[in-house]
Amino acid sequence: MQNGRPRNLVIDDPKRAAFQVHRSAYTSREILELERDLVFDRSWIYVGHETEVRNPGDFQSRNVAGRPVILCRDSGGEIRVLINSCTHRGAEVCRETEGNAKSFQCFYHAWTFNNRGELVGVPDAAGYGPAFKKEELGLKAPPRITNYRGLIFLSFDPNIEDFVTYLANAKEQLDLIMDQSEVGMEIVVGTHLYSTRANWKMLVENSLESYHVAPLHKSYIDYLRVVGNDVSRAPVRGFGKELGNGNAVEEYEGNWGRPRLRWDPRWGEQAKAEIEENRRRLTARFGEQRALRIAEWNRNVLIYPNLMINDIMGITIRAFYPIAPDYMEVRAWSLAAADESPVWRARRLDNFLTFLGPGGLSTPDDNEAMESCQRGFRAAGEVEWSDMSRGIVRESQAVDEEQLRSFWRKWNNQIAGTRRTRSSSTKVRRVA
Ligand code: FES
Ligand SMILES: [Fe+2]
Repeated sequence: MQNGRPRNLVIDDPKRAAFQVHRSAYTSREILELERDLVFDRSWIYVGHETEVRNPGDFQSRNVAGRPVILCRDSGGEIRVLINSCTHRGAEVCRETEGNAKSFQCFYHAWTFNNRGELVGVPDAAGYGPAFKKEELGLKAPPRITNYRGLIFLSFDPNIEDFVTYLANAKEQLDLIMDQSEVGMEIVVGTHLYSTRANWKMLVENSLESYHVAPLHKSYIDYLRVVGNDVSRAPVRGFGKELGNGNAVEEYEGNWGRPRLRWDPRWGEQAKAEIEENRRRLTARFGEQRALRIAEWNRNVLIYPNLMINDIMGITIRAFYPIAPDYMEVRAWSLAAADESPVWRARRLDNFLTFLGPGGLSTPDDNEAMESCQRGFRAAGEVEWSDMSRGIVRESQAVDEEQLRSFWRKWNNQIAGTRRTRSSSTKVRRVA
């Protein structure tokens, strides 16, 4: 025992078919500090999408892995991630959430940095001595940055494995999402930013299993029934799968439509011809099997540790980060085919907001459930462990908890201690 906690916070015992998580993993400040160092600072963490900074000078500022960063496209067209902390005495040099700028001037003492991060202006430069070297005082960058099919990630571990190796079998899942359009995917303008009074790992769990859908999202299922969808198949067919390195997926058939590719009664008969044509083209590109998986199947993909992509009735990219053990901030975006018509875009956004938006028929239910668990954890002395063993004795189904267990196994390995590593490049090279 350490500070009233068992040494091992995860019981993974195949002989007894038992899997349990100690509830201090969701409540302890000390564990959160370990997570910042051993999990978030040793993983690839999502920053944003290249279409959020389309033009030279475009920028987005946001918190990533606890740091203020600027995602921008410099005047030469190169995408950069800069640490948003003035090299003078620390202020955030960019205080807007988004915009277009050739340079960032710190509001505190007016040091000026161009959009490559170089320090280009210092008031009263003559007041500094020979040790002051402007060329060494540019904005810092994270040690590793990568761009996978438009998705930009950083890592604060300079020696982390390359991103494609890190993805392991999650690469196939990302590709199934990104292949939905012949011309590429884009972020729909606008961000959902909200917070939940729950531990961040509960959003991983919640996003990866369909066990909760029938009891918790009954109002959405009722809504689907009313608008003419077939909701008789419950639970839906599907599976949960470990994808390596803590990445995981829940892949399943849904009872709703997918914009452009799978018909939904709400869109009327006239939408069918266009969907058929899109499906014909998809099959020509990828063959019957893969086209079927892209168009018909849903996937909730975890890119370890804190990025969930839900490719369901819309596509949500959701990144989250703990502010305290019982409080997380969530950012979410809608990802869409870049070439879809305004009619399809409107249908997509309607789907996205009806289910997944912060005012939709799902997200508020999920938030309430997670916050309720967090309140339940106050009884830590009386109820120490949570059970996560569903499906452990059978081939995993989407309603099982195997995909949650795969997250917890990696988490437990990291928290138990991993080795520190070292540096290489900082260029944002598109790797696919
Ligand atoms: S802190 Fe930025 S110029 Fe002083
Ligand atoms: Fe849910």
